[in-house]
Amino acid sequence: MNILFISLGCDKNLSDSEEMLGLLAKEGYKLTDFEEEADAVIVNTCCFIKDAKEESINTILEMAEYKKQNLKALIVTGCMAQRYKDEILDEIPEVDAILGTSSYGDIVNAIKSAVEGNKYVELSDINLLPDVGDDRLVTTGGHYAYLKIAEGCDKNCTYCIIPSLRGRYRSIPMEKLIDKAKNLVAKGVKELILVAQETTLYGTDLYGKKSLHILVEELAKIEDLKWIRILYCYPEEIYKELIDTIKNEDKVCKYLDLPIQHGSDKVLKRMGRRTNSKQLRNIIETLRKEIPDIVLRTTLISGFPGETDEDFQELYRFVNEMEFDKLGVFTYSKEEGTSAAKMDNQIAEELKEQRRDELMELQQEISLDKNEEKIGNIVETMVEGYIPDDRVYVARSYGDAPKVDGLIFIDTNKNLESGDMVKVRITKCMEYDLMGELEDELTK
Ligand code: F3S
Repeated sequence: MNILFISLGCDKNLSDSEEMLGLLAKEGYKLTDFEEEADAVIVNTCCFIKDAKEESINTILEMAEYKKQNLKALIVTGCMAQRYKDEILDEIPEVDAILGTSSYGDIVNAIKSAVEGNKYVELSDINLLPDVGDDRLVTTGGHYAYLKIAEGCDKNCTYCIIPSLRGRYRSIPMEKLIDKAKNLVAKGVKELILVAQETTLYGTDLYGKKSLHILVEELAKIEDLKWIRILYCYPEEIYKELIDTIKNEDKVCKYLDLPIQHGSDKVLKRMGRRTNSKQLRNIIETLRKEIPDIVLRTTLISGFPGETDEDFQELYRFVNEMEFDKLGVFTYSKEEGTSAAKMDNQIAEELKEQRRDELMELQQEISLDKNEEKIGNIVETMVEGYIPDDRVYVARSYGDAPKVDGLIFIDTNKNLESGDMVKVRITKCMEYDLMGELEDELTK
């Protein structure tokens, strides 16, 4: 049987998708990228914000339509399945099976049952930690992979539904993660990207103390692994041993993703965040002082309920002053079941978007200034692939996470492979991306 697998949402969801793909491949199912070849379709969904929900629904509906003539089974998994199981089953009868966020290990049973014409619905306790073995199938090109180190979240920010979809915070035991990592590296992965709803709390539930630095040091011992990158660090949870490990361990990218969400104390408080702007400033300054070449990424929310012009100006000034290397802005999305959804003074969509655009324009200038300073520098990069139309290779430096950050375009006649590590001299810049030439060609 040929399966078309559509993975939506975040990199944590992608990690689940790849584990499901591994289970399917082990059972002999073949994967296809084309719906016309597919006997069954699996959609691993997201419902974090309005746009993500719409994308998930539209994808399911499109596949439901397609199923009428061409498919034996349509399976919906992940966050939207967890949250809207009844609505999906009631309104889209073409859906044959539903698996919740802790039940994706059941994918083979679900598909067998669906193909036989029996509905299969499994929503296990969201606080379980699925254990699906190590047969994961990496879909990111083979040279990098996300390593999910924990599941769930206990922070309960007032705008976020993830705790109700993914359960309480639970770390995956370190020995399991090391085995998974070794397995991935043996398959050719050179960069491991550590993800969780929150990575900095790793180990607190299992070992009684923050243990991310220990995990990272253990991972760094894996011989052929080149880079370890840490995403999703709650600013208030950054701790000294972690800073020391990032600073001293060569394989750890001097890069941190630090979602701060806002820069106004009033808004931060209403968001249920545990930091104020002064603390955020201190954390950022400490990181930059301790690790001078650190690249900092953050995400923000514009138009949170009650965000006044003054709050927004505070945020704008904060961004201007902090000069993050990378920054993304989401407009606030009112999510049913969250306390923020019930707050007064919800902001008009247009204003949320206008504020987002203003922040992004500011960031564009900051990013361009930073990129201009890089011209002439020699940076180590990992090759991502080739764009035949433009006849350039694309690569990333330690300062660029895949999908969300910039790229470095390399103009060369040499043959490079995805995952090659090459030194590049930066020759030109755009707002977010860079152009360069291979350093060894230049020195010939
Ligand atoms: Fe979406 Fe679920 Fe990730 S809601 S952002 S796929 S944890």
